[in-house]
Amino acid sequence: MQIYLDYSATTPTRDEVIFLIQTTLAQQWGNPSSLHEWGQRAATVIEVARSQVANLINASPESIIFTSGGTEADNTAIMGVARLYSQPQHLIISSVEHSAISEPARMLELCGWQVTRLGVDAKGQVNPQDLANAIQENTVLISIIYGQSEVGTLQLIPELGKIARQHHVLFHTDAVQVAGRLPVDIENLPVDLLSMSSHKIYGSQGAGALYVRPGVELVPLLLGGGQEMRSSLTGMNTPSRSGTQAVAIIAGFGKAAELAMEEMATETPRLIKLRDRLFSHLIDIPGLIPTGDLSQRLPHHVSFCLVNADGESINGRNIVRQMNLAGIGISAGSACSSGKLNPSPILLAMGYSDQAAMAGIRMTLGRDTTEEDIDWTAIVFQQVLERLRK
Ligand SMILES: Cc1ncc(COP(=O)(O)O)c(C=O)c1O
Repeated sequence: MQIYLDYSATTPTRDEVIFLIQTTLAQQWGNPSSLHEWGQRAATVIEVARSQVANLINASPESIIFTSGGTEADNTAIMGVARLYSQPQHLIISSVEHSAISEPARMLELCGWQVTRLGVDAKGQVNPQDLANAIQENTVLISIIYGQSEVGTLQLIPELGKIARQHHVLFHTDAVQVAGRLPVDIENLPVDLLSMSSHKIYGSQGAGALYVRPGVELVPLLLGGGQEMRSSLTGMNTPSRSGTQAVAIIAGFGKAAELAMEEMATETPRLIKLRDRLFSHLIDIPGLIPTGDLSQRLPHHVSFCLVNADGESINGRNIVRQMNLAGIGISAGSACSSGKLNPSPILLAMGYSDQAAMAGIRMTLGRDTTEEDIDWTAIVFQQVLERLRK
């Protein structure tokens, strides 16, 4: 029996998407910028996908820029705003951002920008008052992750965005883990820029999107032919991203978005039930500490760390390896660079000790996950732990 429980890392490409990618590659291989029949057919494919992705967040299609993924969408938001300024300004992010935000922020810091990393509470949430206090005269952008990928916590984006708007500061949110899993209505969300990714919602890897509220200007990250154009409110076309679009992959992203919309009303509550079932199986394991907010949480996300009675933690990567040998794919929260195991910066920011921050575990569920999978995973997990604790 094989069980995949790493849907936050990537989701299996769904059959409808694979079929559409294949037929698009075979039939709509034209360059969407070409004026002839072949090109225009490909351009139509892209525009259909743009509407489908826009629909996922109740946005207008003109406000969607296709990118190569969530990382590029995040980088475009941060660097696209930063490059509007000839002098360094002030950026606010949280201390629990994905590296696709924290790394561009670090780069700006090296270029003389001031970067405030808002602290979070033990559940990983930013306090809106802290955001209000951090805004300065020269703050030009705030970027706060919507659903944290490692610990599952949802931020109070409506409140945080409202504060940004009151201070006339642009607000970006990385919604890569949220879009397609929870309803997002951009019309009623005070957000100017929002990142999404295809491979988190059963599309394929290689496509993402940045929502840009009409009227918001960005300097493109990629310069060239300006294939992705955005009509601003003034009616002028603003080049937003260059490079011939990956037509088939984008078509698949659109299809995945459409199906995610259709299924959300049934799939999201189903996932919440499974998530809570898994938590309830695991919660009594000695030394297991759930991480993140248990109620304000991504619907498919279970995470925790493991600490022994003597305070020593169990290396998360050992657990992942043992679970893998038993046919179950899960993930460790901590990152490994050049062979050295580092404590998770996310858990450290939430106040966990170095030891505990080495022992993060994440199990993320998806369309194929069943109750039987959950029950079996819990049994195997306890057996693995018993072995490792001997
Ligand atoms: C919150 C978050 N942001 C950004 C990304 C990067 O997205 P992509 O893999 O599409 O580049 C991820 C991927 O794990 C993510 O979880």
